Amino acid sequence: MLNIALPKGRLGDKVYELFSGIGYDCPEIGEDNRKLVFENAEKGVSYLLVKPSDVAIYVEHGAADIGVVGKDVILETNPDIYELLDLGFGKCRLAVAAKNSWSDNTALPLRVATKYPNVTKAYYAQLNRQIEIIKLNGSIELAPILGLSDVIVDIVETGTTLKENNLSVFSTVAPSSARLIANKSAYQFKSKIIDDICRELEKKI
Ligand code: PRP
Repeated sequence: MLNIALPKGRLGDKVYELFSGIGYDCPEIGEDNRKLVFENAEKGVSYLLVKPSDVAIYVEHGAADIGVVGKDVILETNPDIYELLDLGFGKCRLAVAAKNSWSDNTALPLRVATKYPNVTKAYYAQLNRQIEIIKLNGSIELAPILGLSDVIVDIVETGTTLKENNLSVFSTVAPSSARLIANKSAYQFKSKIIDDICRELEKKI
C-alpha cells in the first residue's frame, strides 16, 4: 500500500483530482464525512487527509510515503525528504508587504510579523537588515494595520487580501507552488509505483 498525504482543503481537492485522473481514485473521498483515511486496496493506495503545513512532517517520518505540499512550507521547515515534481498549481509568492504609505527607517530594527520565521530570518540576514520577528499563526495582515509590526512576510496569491486591507507588496522573497514529495526510504522501497505516479503526473501537468 502506498500512503499519500493530501493537504486538506482547496489544494487537496485539486491534488486528489489529479491523482484520480491518473487512475488512483478513491470515490469515498468525495463523500460528506469526517474520515481522515481512505483506502483503495485494488489500486494499492491509501490517502491521508492532513493539515497542509503537516504534510511534510508525515512524509519525513514515513507515516506517508509521498505527499503534496507548498514550496513555502518546504522552505520554512526544510524537511529531510525528496522533492520530486513541481505540480505547477497552487502558485503564489512569499512577499514582504506593508501599509501603502510605509517607508523603511533603516536606523531601527524592522518589526516583521509572519508565519514563516525561518524564511524571514534568512531573507533579511542576506540583506544585512536587523529585524525583530513577531510570530503569528494567521490573519497576518492585521499586524501592520494595528501597529504590531512594520511589515509582514506572507503568502500573496491573488493580492486581494492585501488590497482590501490597504497593504502593498514591497518585495518578493520566494515563489511557491505545489510540490510532490517523497519519504527517502519509501522512494527506494516503493520506487516502481512512485516513479509511475511521477511519470503519469508529469504527462498531466
Ligand atoms: C493566506 C495568506 C493571505 C492570503 C493571501 O491566508 O496568509 O492572508 O491567503 O491570498 P490572496 O493574495 O489571494 O488574498 P489563509 O487563507 O491561508 O488564512 P490565514 O490568514 O489564516 O493564514
